Amino acid sequence: MIIGVDYYPEHWGKELWVPDADLMQKTGVKLVRMAEFAWSRLEPREGEYAFGWLDEIIGIFKERGIKVILGTPTNCPPRWLVEKYPDAVPVGRDGRVSPIGIRGHRCYNHPGFLRRAGEIIERMTKRYAREETVVAWQIDNELEANFCFCGRCTEKYRAWLKKKYGDLDTINRLYGNEVWSGEYSSWEQIDPPLGTYPAAWLNPAYMLDFNRFASDDMIAYVDFQADIIRRNCPGAKITTNVWFCENMPDFYKTFAGLDFVSFDNYPPTKLPEDAGQFYSHAFHLDLMRGVKRQGFCVMEELSGGPGCWSPMVRTPYPGMLSGYSLQAFAHGADAVVHFRWRTAVSGAEMYWHGLIDHSNVPGRRFAEFEKLAGAAEGLKVFEGTQIRAEVAILYSADNEYAFKIQPQTNGMYYLEQPKLFHEALMKYGLNIDIVGEREVLSGYKLVIAPQMYVTDPEVVEKLYSFVEKGGTVVFTNRSGVKDAYNNCIMEPLPAAYRGLTGCRVLEYDPVGYDSVLVKFSDGNVYRAKQWCDILKPEGEETRVLASYESEFYKGSAAITENRYGSGTVYYVGTVGEREMYVHLLRGILQKCGVEYIEGLPDHIEITTRTGEDAAARFIFNNTGETQQFVLDGREVCLQPFEMQVERSDVENAENTEA
Ligand code: GAL
Repeated sequence: MIIGVDYYPEHWGKELWVPDADLMQKTGVKLVRMAEFAWSRLEPREGEYAFGWLDEIIGIFKERGIKVILGTPTNCPPRWLVEKYPDAVPVGRDGRVSPIGIRGHRCYNHPGFLRRAGEIIERMTKRYAREETVVAWQIDNELEANFCFCGRCTEKYRAWLKKKYGDLDTINRLYGNEVWSGEYSSWEQIDPPLGTYPAAWLNPAYMLDFNRFASDDMIAYVDFQADIIRRNCPGAKITTNVWFCENMPDFYKTFAGLDFVSFDNYPPTKLPEDAGQFYSHAFHLDLMRGVKRQGFCVMEELSGGPGCWSPMVRTPYPGMLSGYSLQAFAHGADAVVHFRWRTAVSGAEMYWHGLIDHSNVPGRRFAEFEKLAGAAEGLKVFEGTQIRAEVAILYSADNEYAFKIQPQTNGMYYLEQPKLFHEALMKYGLNIDIVGEREVLSGYKLVIAPQMYVTDPEVVEKLYSFVEKGGTVVFTNRSGVKDAYNNCIMEPLPAAYRGLTGCRVLEYDPVGYDSVLVKFSDGNVYRAKQWCDILKPEGEETRVLASYESEFYKGSAAITENRYGSGTVYYVGTVGEREMYVHLLRGILQKCGVEYIEGLPDHIEITTRTGEDAAARFIFNNTGETQQFVLDGREVCLQPFEMQVERSDVENAENTEA
C-alpha cells in the first residue's frame, strides 16, 4: 500500500520545501500530489511560463525517492484569463455568472479557456514527459457534470440532442411534450433547465436527458485533457478525482477512457450517537473499486478535523486517521494520499486540517500517520491484489439522476437501499462488489438489484439470463417504473421484471416517515418506512416471505421469493430497518450457497484481498469502542478503529501470521 500526501509548495516559503521533503521521506511518504490549483504560479501572465519552482520541488522529491502525481491546474484559471475572457466563467441556473475568486470558475466549453488550458497542459506534459518521478496525471480537480447554462453550453446541449434523436418530432414524442403544451417547433426553443424553481416541476424525461448530457459534456472535457497528456506522455497513467457531489457524472463513463479511478474520501469524524445510524464509508470504497473493477487511489484522505465550508467539526478520534486509510486499502485502494501535508495558514481552507497543524509542530495525528506509513510498507505485497466477491450490488447513474429529479417520498433517496443491503452483507464478513448495472454478472452467486427504476432493455435481458442460469437476484420497490426516457410504463409493476419476480404490485403506499410493521413467516417483526408495495404473488412457485402487519393492507405480501429457470428471485416491496436486511439476507445467503460468518458485532468489517501466493484478511473495528468477539473459534480484541491483518498462503489457506 502506497502512502502519499497532497502538497502545495506554492503555499509555503521555499525554506520549508527541503525540511518537508526530508520529513516525508523519514515518515515513509512515497507519493505526493501537487499543482492542481497552481495555474497562476505556472503561468503568471498569459504566455509567460514559470516552471522553475515545479522543476525544483519535483527534483527535491526525486532525490528522496518520492514519486509525484501532477494535477492539471485548470480548476483555477488565473485572474488574467478571466479578465481577458469574462465570459469564460460558468453561468448558473439563475442565469447569473458565477462569482470569481473561488475555484472551479471555468466553463468547460469556452474556446479561449480551452485554448489556454490546452496550452498549459501541453507545456506541462512536454516538460515532464521524460521525468520518471512523475508517475501519473490528475485531470483538473473534483469535476462535476456540466451545469453551466451559458449560450455555448446551450448550443452543445442542443447538438447532443440532435445527435441522439435527429428531429424534434422524435423528442416531442419520447418526452411526452404534449403535456402542458411543451412541444418544440424549433431547436432554439430547447433550453437547459434555467430558473430557480424546483427541478421536480420540469418534465422528468427532459431532466434525465439533461443530466446525461451534463455528464457526457464533462467527460468530453476530460477526454480533451487526456488526449493532450497521452499525446505528449505516451503510456502515462491518467486519472481524475471524484466524489459524491450534487451534480455527479456517470462514474463508469468518466473512467472508461482513463487508467485508474481516484476518489476523495472524507469519512465523518463525528460518530453518531445511535449505532443504528452508523454509516460506513466502506460502501463508497466498494463502489469506487467496482467502477473499473480494479484497485483505485484515494487521492484525498481525511487527515484532520474538517471545517471551512461549514463550522469546524470533531477532530479525528485516535485511530481514525490510520484506521480509515487501512479500511480504504482493505476495500481495494492501492494508494492513499492524505489531504493535506500541512494545514493552510491562508485562503478559504485554513480550517480544513491537514496532518500538521498551524503550529507546524507534528502532533498526535502526525504520530499516527507515521505509524500508518510503517504498516502500509508491510502491506506492499498486497498492492494490486484482488477482492473476489460472490455478491454484487448494482448501481446506476440513470437511477441516481431520476431519483434526484423526482424524490419518491419523504426521506427516500437512491443510495439508501443499496447501503442498507451493503451494510447487512458486511455483517456477514463478505467481500462485496458494487458494479454498474450494465456490468457482466457471471461469477456472482447473488446480485442485489435495488430500485431498478429506469428500465434499460439490455440490463433487463442480462438479469433474466443470469437468473435463468441459476443466479439469485434481489429486486426492491420502485423497479421497472420508468422506460429508458424516464416516462412511466403503463403496466403493472415491476413491469419488465414481473416475469422474474412472480409477483405484481397491486397498489403502493408512499408512507414517507410513517412507520409500518412487516412480519416474516417465522414470526420476526420489523419496522419499515418510506414505501409499501402491496404485492400479489402470481407465479406457481411464488412464496410470501413477509407480510404487512399494520395499515389497511395488513396481511398482504411485502416480500416474496420466486423460482425462475434455475435461479431464484426475491422482491422486497418496502424499506425496512437494518435488522430486517440482516435477517432476510441470512436466509438468502444460505440458499444460494455463499459462505458467511455468523455473529460479528455491528461495524466489524472483514474483507479479503487475494494475490497469487498470499491472501490478507482485514478485520476492522469501525467503531469508537473496544470490540471483543470470537472469530474462527478464537477470541479477537480490537481497539477503536484498529485494523488487524491476517495473512495466509493461497495454496493451503493456512493462517501464518496474526
Ligand atoms: C476536496 C477538494 C480539495 C479540498 C478538500 C477539503 O473536495 O478536492 O481541494 O478542498 O476537499 O475541503
